[in-house]
Amino acid sequence: MSKSSPALECRLEAAKAVVHDAARMAMAMRPPPGGPQAQLKSAQDWLTETDGAVETFIASRMQAMFPDDGFQGEEGGMTRTGSLRWVVDPIDGTSNYARGRSRWCVSLGLLDGDEPIGGVIEAPALGEVYTALRGVGAFLNGKPIHASPIADPTRAMIEMGWSGRVPKPVFMEKMDAIMELGAMPRSGGCGALALADVASGRLDGYVEIVINLWDVAAALPLLAEAGACVSPFLRDGGLTGGATILAANPHIAPTLSRAVGIALT
Ligand code: IPD
Repeated sequence: MSKSSPALECRLEAAKAVVHDAARMAMAMRPPPGGPQAQLKSAQDWLTETDGAVETFIASRMQAMFPDDGFQGEEGGMTRTGSLRWVVDPIDGTSNYARGRSRWCVSLGLLDGDEPIGGVIEAPALGEVYTALRGVGAFLNGKPIHASPIADPTRAMIEMGWSGRVPKPVFMEKMDAIMELGAMPRSGGCGALALADVASGRLDGYVEIVINLWDVAAALPLLAEAGACVSPFLRDGGLTGGATILAANPHIAPTLSRAVGIALT
């Protein structure tokens, strides 16, 4: 039975429109191909002018429409509280965006208390929009999506996210375990789109040792509605800081979980 409501459906429609306008703004500001046009926040952690501009734009549009809703952004932190809360990553995949690459997105998730219930992820350079609402489904450009049926690791493609927050030996150990399974490794630099790829069946799994709520808030309901398995990211500290995530199709999830030592429950 659908757990949705007209109030939530109205919010998802509004979020789609706002994210679309934000994505157009980001496209207009996108640096040309070349060396990164960005500042470093820390080692290999980039910040562009667009990150701040897009977050401010989304925050003000959502506040005007839903003044009682909370708001949390990657750049500005928690600026408003509310039982419903929007969580935005203005540009996820900033390192790609800053070099004129195409694999980046605007990501806006909706939480009800501590439960992720809706999300919009738009990747304008790829012409793709993912949407999800609890009890309604997960969609790519309006068409339903589902996690892949691949159970055999030697036919699987598994992505691992990298950031400077994770010591090299820890990253290498998990990557080694993925390759020992015989899976094809990937690392694409945009956590939200990698998780969306798991939801749509383009990837069989995604692992990242330390990732933040804004990177995953819109993808979590997408994964749930698409039938993927996800480790308990929020329970493991994801609501208040960086935490580990494993997302995978349900057929390969137990094998991947055992191999990398990340529990699914
Ligand atoms: C980063 C990307 C990257 C992931 C990092 C994130 P940003 O987000 O999603 O793929 O591995 O953990 O911090 O900095 O591009 O918004």
